[in-house]
Amino acid sequence: MAVTSLSSAAEEIRSRCNIVDVVSPLVSIKRAGSNYKGCCPFHKEKTPSFVVSETKQIFTCFGCGKSGDVIKFIQEYYNLSFPEAVRRLAAQYGIEIDDSYERQSKKKEGYFAINKTAARFFFDAFTKKANPGYDYMRGRGIQPEMVAKFGIGYADEGWQTLSDYMTAQGTPAELLTELGLSSKSSKDGRLYDKFRGRVMFPIFNTMGKVIGFGGRTIIGDAAKYLNSQESFVFEKKRNLYGLNLSKTEIQEQGYAILVEGYMDVVGLYQGGVRNVCAALGTALTPEQAQLLKRYTKKVVLCLDSDAAGIKAAIRGCDVLRAAGLDVRVMHVDDGKDPDEYIKKHGADEFRSLLDKTAETDIDFKIGLIARKYDGNDLTQAIRFLKAAADVLRPLSPVEADLYIQKVAKMRGISEGALRREIEQPSAEAPRPAPRAETENAAEERPAEETPQMQGQVMVERMLVKLCMQRSDFWPKLKERDDVFVSNEGYRIADVLNECYRENNDFDAKAVRERLDGSALAYFDRIQDEVITGDEEEAFRDCLEKLDRRKAERRIKEIMDILSIAEGEDEEKLNAYMLELADLQRKYIR
Ligand code: UTP
Ligand code: MN
Repeated sequence: MAVTSLSSAAEEIRSRCNIVDVVSPLVSIKRAGSNYKGCCPFHKEKTPSFVVSETKQIFTCFGCGKSGDVIKFIQEYYNLSFPEAVRRLAAQYGIEIDDSYERQSKKKEGYFAINKTAARFFFDAFTKKANPGYDYMRGRGIQPEMVAKFGIGYADEGWQTLSDYMTAQGTPAELLTELGLSSKSSKDGRLYDKFRGRVMFPIFNTMGKVIGFGGRTIIGDAAKYLNSQESFVFEKKRNLYGLNLSKTEIQEQGYAILVEGYMDVVGLYQGGVRNVCAALGTALTPEQAQLLKRYTKKVVLCLDSDAAGIKAAIRGCDVLRAAGLDVRVMHVDDGKDPDEYIKKHGADEFRSLLDKTAETDIDFKIGLIARKYDGNDLTQAIRFLKAAADVLRPLSPVEADLYIQKVAKMRGISEGALRREIEQPSAEAPRPAPRAETENAAEERPAEETPQMQGQVMVERMLVKLCMQRSDFWPKLKERDDVFVSNEGYRIADVLNECYRENNDFDAKAVRERLDGSALAYFDRIQDEVITGDEEEAFRDCLEKLDRRKAERRIKEIMDILSIAEGEDEEKLNAYMLELADLQRKYIR
């Protein structure tokens, strides 16, 4: 049987392992009444005071006071951490901890390697000898330096060029089709190349792995751009083109420029505007907004000014705003795209164009409406009022107020009329703000099975966030054994310890660099979602919760110990009674 988290493995161990069977090979114990008794392995003694209870499944030493369940025993005996002890017992009892994360990441690495080999093959075809792809890109003014930076390649017009090469490398046909590099002919079962006569843009994730490709036709194929199909490693909605190169620049400049196409990213980057990325040939998704939010709180949309571009910009505004980002829209005049603009005018002019034309998402939408209903007649004025109210209705009162004044002034209408219109329910059905889905993140979600577990995970999340804001909190936590409960939490704790050992300090960036997979996703979600308020107060509150939890556990344990005590020294039992009374006074009201 496989379980999916350390905590459920611990549950399973507690229910399946008999503590007597675990202890007896390690400590010589003999039946004594309803318990087992022996000399304590944790301190030196001649008369046995180490007791194991089969009914309560606990051990305790009435001499040195050590006590706990089977996991605690293994921890103490072998000097292990809780996760180490759980893994050891799980292995011994055939409880498989399904580290699906580990397995999946191995599988992913294999897919990345295939994509990388293909990318290298396309790149060599582009750079090593004369080819139409190279000529095409030279014609568009792309410098060799950018070819190398973006790994641009060429897929020739042959039907089997890549497929033959990859097959000769030993890549299984199923993987080539799964990754969308080849397709299998239904007639003869042969593999055919998906990308033919195209300039190839490898798509990297933020870790720098090749997850898919975009290919631009240079032979006039009906599909101007062809993208890899979705695969195990390529989820369009969770990635942005160019972000692997631009993320640092985005952080440094404090904002991201979001453009429409591959060539816009390459063009702007080459021109010296490097805080740029693009959605992958789809409408911007909430997941992409969350991804951007890891690096910046501010996004400038720079989309084509054709009808499709404007529609995309409107949706982009909504998605970005719903993610809590500060959104601006800039306008490239003459209907040109950013790529063409920067080639003609250079980076400085592009930046001053940004300064000149970038407006807030709300100003942008109001502007569109104003242009749509720009007549002087009453009907137009009313339509404008209604449409403007729809835009302003979702805003916070403070923000709405600002725009009410502005819009009223612009159109010469009364603020009161606009305000009343906003208070009317929307004509359209209220649109729920698009939100990033968290499903699919089964592998990213830490165990939160029971409500109690949920509470523990909440404290864990809060403490991780607090430590990112105040690394000086860490020394107060690192010795405790009750802070972390999820697998991901334990991994984060390891990283915090490592960083702290090396530098006596850490920040989110340093921590992120050492995390990956589900732990990284968990960490990023904490950074995004957890709001701490007053740090000192929140920290105190967490410690209090931990102390209370610890006390509750200890109370239960003492009750168990007292219930198994048979003919023990009065004095020792008294000590437990006193501790129990003390805990109950402090924590049970
Ligand atoms: P555009 O057609 O605006 O691309 O599509 P572009 O950058 O101006 O292309 P060039 O300059 O002619 O080479 C913008 C983006 O939409 C996606 C691609 O991601 C492209 O970069 N797209 C476009 C597709 O996925 N498929 C298409 O057929 C066209
Ligand atoms: Mn273009």
